[in-house]
Amino acid sequence: MEKKIKGGKCAACNVQTCNVQPRDPRFSHIKPAPRTLHNNFLVIREILVILSPLSYQIIKILTSLFLEFLARLSFLHTPLFSVQTASLLLNMAGKLMHAVQYDSYGGGAAGLKHVEVPVPTPKKDEVLIKLEATSLNPVDWKIQKGILRPLMPRKFPHIPGTDVAGEVLEVGPGVKNFKTGDKIVAMLSHATGGGLAEFAVAKESLTVARPAEVSAAEGAGLPVAGLTAHQALTQSVGIKLDGSGKQANILITAASGGVGHYAVQLAKLGNIHVTATCGARNIEFVKSLGADEVLDYKTPEGAALNSPSGRKYDAVIHCATGIPWSTFEPNLSENGKVIDITPGVNAMLTFALKKLTFSKKQLVPLLMVPKAENLDYLVKQVKEGKLKTVIDSKHPLSKAEDAWAKSIAGHATGKVIVEP
Ligand SMILES: NC(=O)c1ccc[n+]([C@@H]2O[C@H](COP(=O)([O-])OP(=O)(O)OC[C@H]3O[C@@H](n4cnc5c(N)ncnc54)[C@H](OP(=O)(O)O)[C@@H]3O)[C@@H](O)[C@H]2O)c1
Repeated sequence: MEKKIKGGKCAACNVQTCNVQPRDPRFSHIKPAPRTLHNNFLVIREILVILSPLSYQIIKILTSLFLEFLARLSFLHTPLFSVQTASLLLNMAGKLMHAVQYDSYGGGAAGLKHVEVPVPTPKKDEVLIKLEATSLNPVDWKIQKGILRPLMPRKFPHIPGTDVAGEVLEVGPGVKNFKTGDKIVAMLSHATGGGLAEFAVAKESLTVARPAEVSAAEGAGLPVAGLTAHQALTQSVGIKLDGSGKQANILITAASGGVGHYAVQLAKLGNIHVTATCGARNIEFVKSLGADEVLDYKTPEGAALNSPSGRKYDAVIHCATGIPWSTFEPNLSENGKVIDITPGVNAMLTFALKKLTFSKKQLVPLLMVPKAENLDYLVKQVKEGKLKTVIDSKHPLSKAEDAWAKSIAGHATGKVIVEP
């Protein structure tokens, strides 16, 4: 029976611009529906409605088939990646991981909670890392204290920790330089953290290769502390780490800590005369790093920062806190400067005053800006045995609060490491 068409509307579907093909002679008087955005959207929506209950299952099945294929390649000794990695990948879909997080400011070690959360997914230009080690820095617990609120952390709950080493498990779209199975060192963002966990995602731009000679703990120690020491010496003071620059005398305070112990070793690579301060128990340790003169900061000479050999300092890499400008000033050479890595209000006022008065002696506040090329340089120095990460203590992730308390106490010798 012939369908009736009224006033341009199709009696079958009651739509002004009917989708029935005009090739059908019965509807040849009706123009085909224009391919408007709206029409396309309706078609896509129809497809999605039909597929949505199936799509999750389909994707899951395809993913596991693909992963099984990769795993079988590995079992057949195809050097794609390790058998352990392959079987881990097989178990990754929808997997939860152990992590340590806090959900408000304050609380110290007692504020940390052990949780199970989904393994993160690498987005564009990110890599998913199976973590082997994470090192802590004072800034981690300072963010928990709220010194950078409201900027950091970006949201609660927050998994702290930025300095990580491990193995790449998966790469996001656009990642060019890494593949599954690569051993790496990476720095995560302070705002988003993620290091106190079994897995983390890192930007490719702050991830570097880790050679077999560099252990995960040695690599994880490097990002914040190593990069700060590197930036202070090379950028703020202008020291050439290949030793080709001019001779200089520098003082490094808190030379036994994370930043200080790297700073002493890097300065010696640059052929610089190093005076260092530390506690009595660490004097031999700091000498072993290469320091030429070491002061116990609890003695009068140490507190006055006087060089035992009477030298004036061309620069101070100030890694301790609470030393006033008036203590530094008489120990500086004519154009000496203090690079303050923990500048407080007084330091900022001194910085401004010295700038405004065109003083030859300057105080320079430093905020570390991470660069992959510098991290890569540090990893290579460790590989070549020219730089070492001294490990204060290692703690399992299940006891991360002990590591946290150790860092807060402020008496670490070298780096505090957490291992999943
Ligand atoms: N601006 C930036 O971008 C940046 C980057 C990294 C770090 N920082 C800051 O730099 C500071 C140092 O960081 P870190 O990782 O090296 O800390 P850390 O590893 O916790 O430092 C601990 C070490 O400092 C020693 N120490 C403490 N007070 C001292 C003093 N008055 N004189 C000499 N030694 C002293 C301790 O020795 P004893 O046990 O003998 O007391 C201990 O060995 C922190 O405030 C941190 O937040 C800033």
